[in-house]
Amino acid sequence: MQLPYAEPFRIKTVEPLKTTTREEREVYIREAGYNLFNLRSEHVFIDLLTDSGTGAMSDAQWAAIMTGDESYAGSRSFHQLKNTVEHITGFSYLLPTHQGRAAENVLFSALVKEGDIIPGNSHFDTTKGHIEFRHAHALDCTIDEAFDIENPHPFKGNIDLKKLEKVYQSYSKEQIPFCLITITCNTAGGQPVSLQNIKDVKELSDKYDIPLLFDAARFAENAYFIKTREEDCKNFNIKEICTKMFSYGVGMTMSSKKDGLVNIGGFIALQDEELYRKAGNFLILFEGFLTYGGLAGRDMAALAVGLDEATEFPYLESRIKQVELLGNLLIQQGIPIQKPIGGHAVFIDATRFLPHVPKEEYIAQTLAIELYKEAGIRAVEIGTLLADRDPVSRENRYPKLELLRLTIPRRTYTDNHIRYIAAAVCKVFERRQEITKGYEIVYEADLLRHFSVMLKSL
Ligand code: F0G
Repeated sequence: MQLPYAEPFRIKTVEPLKTTTREEREVYIREAGYNLFNLRSEHVFIDLLTDSGTGAMSDAQWAAIMTGDESYAGSRSFHQLKNTVEHITGFSYLLPTHQGRAAENVLFSALVKEGDIIPGNSHFDTTKGHIEFRHAHALDCTIDEAFDIENPHPFKGNIDLKKLEKVYQSYSKEQIPFCLITITCNTAGGQPVSLQNIKDVKELSDKYDIPLLFDAARFAENAYFIKTREEDCKNFNIKEICTKMFSYGVGMTMSSKKDGLVNIGGFIALQDEELYRKAGNFLILFEGFLTYGGLAGRDMAALAVGLDEATEFPYLESRIKQVELLGNLLIQQGIPIQKPIGGHAVFIDATRFLPHVPKEEYIAQTLAIELYKEAGIRAVEIGTLLADRDPVSRENRYPKLELLRLTIPRRTYTDNHIRYIAAAVCKVFERRQEITKGYEIVYEADLLRHFSVMLKSL
């Protein structure tokens, strides 16, 4: 018999969790305008809002915090981080930022202008926000299989080459500053992009002289899927796969709050000195000097260690298998989820889960609220609220999939928590026929409305 996986770490510090009653939760969520972002964290028992900056650091990372060099310029911690990033990605130029969207802001300031087109696999919402803020357009070229939750395609984050070529043929090269590959593709369900697809996209883009950039927030999880699902890659280690993936691009933006295993941080890494200088001017303007950007020296020191730990196979195996455990427990109960199970989260198909709630009443948000009331679990809507309005027509955009994301923080919850989550989702599923009404918006912001939207129960 093969031994099961087990976490390659043990627990040294614990943080107590508070429980609440259903009656209390009904009050808390009403007072929060039925927006789970407005809840106080002590009113949440298990927090699956995001895997971003919510994980646990290792003792080696905490030790690195104490060695951080806080010099304004030329910090030793910057150079440690730069060496690690270069070792894993091959990119020699590093611009630290306070988080991923800051990296987008800095790099897109240098690259994106009004009227531009940025093709890619489903862009993350802040990425799309930074593109649309510049009156440019993000075009989604993800393969159609990604939008069929039952389709077992192993790389549902892949870019459809025909869709991409159509974009390249429809617009001039001057209008397309780059193609953006998000690894793993969060919006499509934490789904990976194959190394073969990255190679093919590179080849096609070369034909039209368009550079490739990566949104690399979950690059290590992507590399794990490449190693375990792509036959040609099974004998490479994770760091080797990372270097291979990045060798096809000219640079990356990174939210270190995911596969950097830190609570705050981001960076831009680039191949080209000229682009580094151009983006560097915006870094100084928006974030900070070139060798710290938006980070303290100790943050960079902890990040250097985190990147190294995140690209080790045993860590990734325990991480991805825990997410898989949750997905499989839900599948066993007949709950409709995106398959194969993603890297950082399980995505429930809310439309199939709650068939009686109309799409105009925010189905996935309705499910998120029910799950919170049921068990104090905070999940996140990846549906109509997040998809926002069309910037021109101001009509609601209804995405192809209306999803509820159960996002698992790294190295944080135990498998007992996972079983509790599965049981709670099943309890809501058992009473799904009684849930027939959703919510109506009473306040929304012009951009990125899901963070601050206020709702009323119908
Ligand atoms: N790109 C991807 C693919 C992301 O998932 C995120 C953040 C960002 C960029 C922006 O990075 O948060 O550091 O500014 N995703 C989080 C999430 C917020 O919950 O999925 P950030």
